[in-house]
Amino acid sequence: MRLSVIGCGYLGAVHATAMASIGHDVVGFDVDAEKISRLSSGDAPFFEPGFDALLRDTLATGRLRFSTDTSDLASARVHFIAVGTPQSEDGDGADMRFVDAAVRSLLPVLSEGDLVVGKSTVPVGTAQRLAEMVAPTGALLMWNPEFLREGFAVEDTLQPDRIVYGTSHSGGPEVAVLDEVYAKALDAGIPRLVTDYATSELVKVAANAFLATKISFINAMSEIADATGADVTQLADAIGYDVRIGRRFLNAGVGFGGGCLPKDIRAFAARGEELGHGRALRFLREVDEINLRQRSRLVDVVTEELGGSVAGRRIAILGLAFKPNSDDTRDSPALDIATRLHGLGADVIAYDPEAIETARRVRPHLHFAQTLDEALSGAEATVVVTEWDQFRQLDPDTTSQLVAETRIIDGRNCLDAQRWRAAGWSYRGLGRR
Ligand code: UGA
Repeated sequence: MRLSVIGCGYLGAVHATAMASIGHDVVGFDVDAEKISRLSSGDAPFFEPGFDALLRDTLATGRLRFSTDTSDLASARVHFIAVGTPQSEDGDGADMRFVDAAVRSLLPVLSEGDLVVGKSTVPVGTAQRLAEMVAPTGALLMWNPEFLREGFAVEDTLQPDRIVYGTSHSGGPEVAVLDEVYAKALDAGIPRLVTDYATSELVKVAANAFLATKISFINAMSEIADATGADVTQLADAIGYDVRIGRRFLNAGVGFGGGCLPKDIRAFAARGEELGHGRALRFLREVDEINLRQRSRLVDVVTEELGGSVAGRRIAILGLAFKPNSDDTRDSPALDIATRLHGLGADVIAYDPEAIETARRVRPHLHFAQTLDEALSGAEATVVVTEWDQFRQLDPDTTSQLVAETRIIDGRNCLDAQRWRAAGWSYRGLGRR
């Protein structure tokens, strides 16, 4: 089937490539000429495991191309909207400019029987509004939220947990068209739910709100664990055995960041207020506050460990990405903590296996190490803020040869505390004895 994907960021570039890899004929569109030129030459503009290889292999099939020219979209029958919905500059709501512009740019090429499929995360009510914009062309609109995680984007796109179709009337001809697009996943038994527009929009924000709440719940427990001498990791293990609770997303630490969870819970709370039901989502404000407090708590722990002031002290920051296996530093707790410690006068040196260039673009004043050893050398405190395998696998004995002082602060509770203590280190986590 001939498809177009508007917006070639993490979501769109992976979606376009994955759809072409399973046999569709796809054109990916973006207004950013540099991004399009890199994608066209098989050079991924971001780090995503498995994506580089899939991109190169799929370009070689001739079924995938990228363009900045809207006239190239005309031959497609199904158009996916995969542009960003960042937080507005003047509030907590979502900035809908890119989605609106994407749909407007499609209007001249749409005709009877075409399908516009929204994948972006949007405030509930958006699909109905866009359907009205599209209606005069004779095309139909569906909402098909995306649940991919960075770091697992290819896998999540090709084998999602579920597929949701939001439509204005259940069982219309558009369902059969989208079924054809996703035939491979549907044949493999992946559940597919057909809902109304509002439900499909809410599925996405509700899922992210639930995940954010789960993380903030365990982070609140970590604060209480610190106050009482309990261990939050053992607590999470113990409650996680209850299948109704589950252990995943119960890792306490410096909290959630990235281009999705933080802005999505803010936009959802803001939408609740617009709908006159702010009370129902007020808890999300608390979820956000707990999350941001974790960053301050970590800075306080580092300060305390260094005897009350970080000024002039050499601090190795291990991690800049908002999570491992990504080079994304949007709303990253790691980058925020590095920036705050630097602001307090610390001699910060930061290292990340993939995110140094993205971090440097937004925080050029920070000092970045070329290698992990360079970051560790002479450190008076070592602070782990992104749980890359490379940091989890650090050997306390070898590491102690590099640092000036054997003091480790584990902002992701990802190290074996006993092992580090046994090797003579002072170890601090968040909510861990
Ligand atoms: C999230 C959702 O998990 C995806 O399902 C969704 O499609 C995506 O947002 C989106 O809206 O596009 P992502 O932002 O890639 O995906 O990252 P997550 O794996 O959800 O992690 C988010 C943050 O939570 C990271 O900073 C991570 O370090 C943190 N986290 C995660 C914790 O602090 N503790 C945990 O136990 C788990």
